[in-house]
Amino acid sequence: NGSQLVRTQREKRDRQKMRKRFWELGGSRMGDAMGIKAAPEAKEDGGGGEDEEEDGGDYKANAGYAKHMKKSGGAGASEFARTKTLAEQREYLPVRQVRDDLMQIVADHQVVIIVGETGSGKTTQLTQYLHEAGMTRYGMVGCTQPRRVAAMSVAKRVSEEMGVELGQEVGYAIRFEDVTSEATLIKYMTDGVLLRESLREPDLDTYAALVMDEAHERSLNTDVLFGVLRKVVQRRRDLRLVVTSATLDATRFSDFFGGVPVFNIPGRTFKVDTYFAKTPQEDYVDAAVKQALQIHLSHGPGDILIFMTGQEDIEATCEVLAERMGTLDDPPPLLLLPMYSQLPADLQAKIFESADEGVRKCIVSTNIAETSLTVDGIKYVIDSGFCKLKVYNPKIGMDALQITPISQANANQRSGRAGRTGEGHAYRLYTERQYRDELLAAQIPEIQRTNLGNVVLLLKSLGVEDLLSFDFMDPPPQDNIQSSLYQLWVLGALSNTGDLTTLGRKMVEFPLDPPLAKMLIFSEKLGCTAEVLVVVSMLSVPSVFFRPKGREEESDAAREKFFVPESDHLTLLNVYQQWRQQNYAAQWCTDHFVHVKGLRKAREVHAQLLDILKQQRIQHVSTGGAGWDSVRKAICSAYFYNAAKIKGVGEYVNMLTGMPCHLHPSSALYGLGYTPDFTCYHELIYTSKEYMTTVTAVEGEWLAELGPMFFSVKESLKSRLEKRKREAEEKVKMDAEMATVTAAKEQEEEAR
Ligand code: CDP
Ligand code: MG
Repeated sequence: NGSQLVRTQREKRDRQKMRKRFWELGGSRMGDAMGIKAAPEAKEDGGGGEDEEEDGGDYKANAGYAKHMKKSGGAGASEFARTKTLAEQREYLPVRQVRDDLMQIVADHQVVIIVGETGSGKTTQLTQYLHEAGMTRYGMVGCTQPRRVAAMSVAKRVSEEMGVELGQEVGYAIRFEDVTSEATLIKYMTDGVLLRESLREPDLDTYAALVMDEAHERSLNTDVLFGVLRKVVQRRRDLRLVVTSATLDATRFSDFFGGVPVFNIPGRTFKVDTYFAKTPQEDYVDAAVKQALQIHLSHGPGDILIFMTGQEDIEATCEVLAERMGTLDDPPPLLLLPMYSQLPADLQAKIFESADEGVRKCIVSTNIAETSLTVDGIKYVIDSGFCKLKVYNPKIGMDALQITPISQANANQRSGRAGRTGEGHAYRLYTERQYRDELLAAQIPEIQRTNLGNVVLLLKSLGVEDLLSFDFMDPPPQDNIQSSLYQLWVLGALSNTGDLTTLGRKMVEFPLDPPLAKMLIFSEKLGCTAEVLVVVSMLSVPSVFFRPKGREEESDAAREKFFVPESDHLTLLNVYQQWRQQNYAAQWCTDHFVHVKGLRKAREVHAQLLDILKQQRIQHVSTGGAGWDSVRKAICSAYFYNAAKIKGVGEYVNMLTGMPCHLHPSSALYGLGYTPDFTCYHELIYTSKEYMTTVTAVEGEWLAELGPMFFSVKESLKSRLEKRKREAEEKVKMDAEMATVTAAKEQEEEAR
């Protein structure tokens, strides 16, 4: 075993040396000199760019693109996509023109920042260029994405371009879904996945090159990766790191890595006319619908892209738009395509498909279409001016998705989507004054506005002791760090001195939010890991209850049949168990108004978490016939800081903050009118008032036992226990007294 370890370490060193030499010799250009044959794909394309004549060819190719665009009247590249092969489409991308220079700069520098307009080919091409240059002989080429949807759809596209099956040479990994194999050379993944990999393998040795895509998004995990990778590139001189950004402000990134080169991909953008609303709009859904109809009925060909905030808005927009179209007399065809992250993948893919001749596409999307995804052929953009952002709410101590005005940078990015394939038009549903005075220049990075629980746990286990001294590009507010540390301490993941505890170390192993990880680990002691595993899996997928329009009553009745009176968590468990008893049948789901896709996803999550449980040697035990009280106790062990005490009918107050919180009408407790004294809830949402979502009844004693830092000292329990004790003592005393009295009486009587 020892010798094997030495051998693998030597192999690792050799591999690193080889990679380093590869680049020292000039990377792709020197591929042949090193006896590395160009990959077959590279040959087709002229091979890694060593051919000087390439430039001329590129130029011609590009001229061809322009000519094509002219011919089609700028009507859009959907036609382009229809008529050209994938290989031809690759040739026309802006990044293709500069491929040689770009690969040379990557060969010459360990870290490079690449700036290019959205749609220039950064995400789909850079990984392929690195592969074609021969890089994948020394390890994988990884590419991180802040969004799951982007990781999946781009991997699919690249696998098509390379003519391979998705999951083989080209694959992707997102949380709870790994579509890669032994054969994988190019791996797309969320930034969170790479961050987790760095836990297991601090040097990320399986990668020969990494592309950190969409750095301008400044997602929480990307920002943490920046700090982690800065250390890795210092240790591993053989690793190539490419950071891409869609915005020009790349000097920050360059400075962060010590002044590395910034490479600009020349854009190929067309003029976009931007129009502002004359007066502030009250309802952006309505305004967007009107604008879209106006364009559709009176403007020339070209697809429409509407930016909305989230699923609800998007569905509403599509619905209203379809309704209005229905009232028109024989309107020209309009293909409505929603796009948001929870949309099933097959429907998401539809936005990339070209519509039939003469049909106008109208995509209604979240800000995912801002930079992560490029749909060709957009000529008209309608911008609601809002997006959904994760914001930490210190009042309730957790993140909430909030509808927030976009930034000026977002607005310009959105407008730019109209000018990719020809001149375009952007309609902003807000006034010029609002744009100028009310929008921030750029969005605040996520790291400065969200809960850091997971990040803190991760960094602690990476051995970062002082979080305030970590290499953050923009450090999070100290208060945020402190409150996250506090939350982890409360859960028992950190010791009094701020070190990871045994529990904390185990929690890091699970790709779950800290409380859920704690719930799962703690359930072993209570003998109910099997049940809690299901609860956690169900909480990790979107709601499985299906409530179709027009069938609300029927579906509500079906849902109520699943209710477990004291708990929404147990209700979820009940649904899953019944489905399992039906052999995971799809028909059963349809009959009972639950989403089969959601349940299947939960089943996958369940399988993966079970693997981790086994790795961690945590026993998989079921309560058997002992009932589900222990499951409720496990829930309490993780969510006691979300404890609420009854105040009135359906009305509670958070026991720590005093915030009022209400039972949600969809809760089992509400439906059955069961109102326990104490509850723990999963989340608080704001709509018309503060609602607890996913609620479970708990015992006061559990709160004191599991959350002693909050509930030990005073009132309820202690006093009640004492009272009971006092009562008991008094009863003994009284009994004794009674006995003596009786005895005395008897004696008296006898004496009489
Ligand atoms: O990353 P960047 O925004 O620079 O561009 P990209 O995502 O690599 O996209 C390059 C081209 O590939 C776009 O013009 C899209 O037409 C096409 N593409 C696609 O058709 N389907 C995808 N899932 C992704 C990209
Ligand atoms: Mg991209």
